[in-house]
Amino acid sequence: MKMENTVNNIFKVDYDFEAVRAVEPVNEPERQYYYMEKAAEVYKLICENAGKRLTFNCNTFGCQMNFRDSEKIAGILEKIGFENTEDKSPDFVILNTCTIRENADQKVYGNLGYLKKLKELNPNMIIALCGCMMQETTVVQKLRESYSFIDLIYGTHNIYKLAELVFAMFALKSYAAHHPVKKNGKYKIKHSMLVDIWKDTDKIVEDLPDERKYSFKASVNITYGCDNFCTYCIVPYVRGRERSRRPGDIVKEVKCLADAGVIEIMLLGQNVNSYGKGLEGEKGEPVTFANLLRMVEKVEGIKRIRFMTPHPKDFSDELIEVIADSEKICKHIHLPFQAGSNNVLRRMNRRYTKESYLELAGKIKTRIPDIALTTDIIVGFPGETEEDFEDTLDVVKEVRYQSAYMFEYSKRTGTPAATMEDQVDAEAVKRRFKRLQDTVAEYADDKFGNKVGCMAEVLAEEVNSEEPLIITGRMSDNTLVHFKVPTDNKEDYIGKLLKVKITENCRFYLMGELS
Ligand code: SAH
Ligand code: SF4
Ligand code: F3S
Repeated sequence: MKMENTVNNIFKVDYDFEAVRAVEPVNEPERQYYYMEKAAEVYKLICENAGKRLTFNCNTFGCQMNFRDSEKIAGILEKIGFENTEDKSPDFVILNTCTIRENADQKVYGNLGYLKKLKELNPNMIIALCGCMMQETTVVQKLRESYSFIDLIYGTHNIYKLAELVFAMFALKSYAAHHPVKKNGKYKIKHSMLVDIWKDTDKIVEDLPDERKYSFKASVNITYGCDNFCTYCIVPYVRGRERSRRPGDIVKEVKCLADAGVIEIMLLGQNVNSYGKGLEGEKGEPVTFANLLRMVEKVEGIKRIRFMTPHPKDFSDELIEVIADSEKICKHIHLPFQAGSNNVLRRMNRRYTKESYLELAGKIKTRIPDIALTTDIIVGFPGETEEDFEDTLDVVKEVRYQSAYMFEYSKRTGTPAATMEDQVDAEAVKRRFKRLQDTVAEYADDKFGNKVGCMAEVLAEEVNSEEPLIITGRMSDNTLVHFKVPTDNKEDYIGKLLKVKITENCRFYLMGELS
């Protein structure tokens, strides 16, 4: 490639890569710590060639699962020595991709177009892609063919091996720099793309470094993967089978976080309330999500507990009781219903009915009156009729959500729904989507209005970028609150639970004043 030869290649180092490989440890996580140390040695030599410290930027697409993975990626890269930067032109760019809907894929391709230009200006730039989109063979094929400037591609199952992959990539690049190939009478440095994608894994590697984005709130994975196979959804194919972390490992991580000053924990999984399947407690008892919540609740220092996402089919009465009785579990449940029609729900393989969902939502609201419910809804699933869509509106009207994420159905290759007949006409989908938005807004829970004049407990999360005397935070039920503070000394507020007097209802958020 032309661009590789226009500037000094910083990867040409004198280092015995083979000797390092010859004595690599077999077990994890020791093996990865070993490679972090060795990659750090090579990194230093590369920096000497470059005459500066190399930076990285991990760009996250998609859900909280990916955000959490990006923290792990950042942890490993920082351990190697890379400096984390927000700069749009870093030395190492990682795109942590999502493929939940088609527009997620398009965003990644858009970014690649931009990165191609940057790499033409700086041929030493390293570009890596990882995450859900990389688990699709057609995507990787396309990248190999049309985006050959990429340096490293790996998937969702081998993130923990990033240090080893970076080391292998350094080895490849150094070898290429030492062995230029002759082409049309000129020597050129050969570019190669390192690709490592696993189909699935049953492994969970604990105790690797990570770099948490916030000091006061943190996400903790409790399950990986998904076994539900909703017929529209790509996640089970790109994230693999459901695996639960051991409760002891989860509680240990939460304790560590609490010791470091974290007060809000978000427990993460595609279906958190099926947590524990396949695990056994110390005395042989079943491991359940309700019990895990009880354990996390006992961790001193943790003030708020959230979780994402529960599935309606697995929402036990015991779980409702645990939430109702808890001082720490936030009064917010995100309970996706996707569609209201039983016919559509059956073809989506959601394994509940409109009636059973409404019964569950009713039970939760009766037992926990101050709960805020939010949801996910898909419009235009194959075969959805106007009548089916009316069932979706019925659910919105009856449950009265605080807010809802609404999506137009997006066809994902490889999922059962992609080959279903009667894909809904795009015009009809647009029309229904608009009606749904209006209905969600019209029937939104009016708790917002009731809060004016009240005192609320708000976790202060960030200073407003334009107005240093305004801080943004969230109430237990996830309501966003912007509130005025007397000084711009942010250490006094950020990461603290504060009493705020609510002064105004601005429909999607509340305004308030520190009392
Ligand atoms: N595991 C979670 C969420 C997974 S993805 C759950 O089951 O609730 C987040 C949301 O994206 C889903 O709830 C669904 O509403 C939406 N979604 C998933 N696949 C989609 C598709 N093919 N088209 C449109 N929306 C989709
Ligand atoms: Fe996808 Fe369904 Fe699993 Fe959620 S529960 S990740 S929608 S398959
Ligand atoms: Fe996207 Fe993967 Fe999450 S497909 S929504 S990043 S699990």
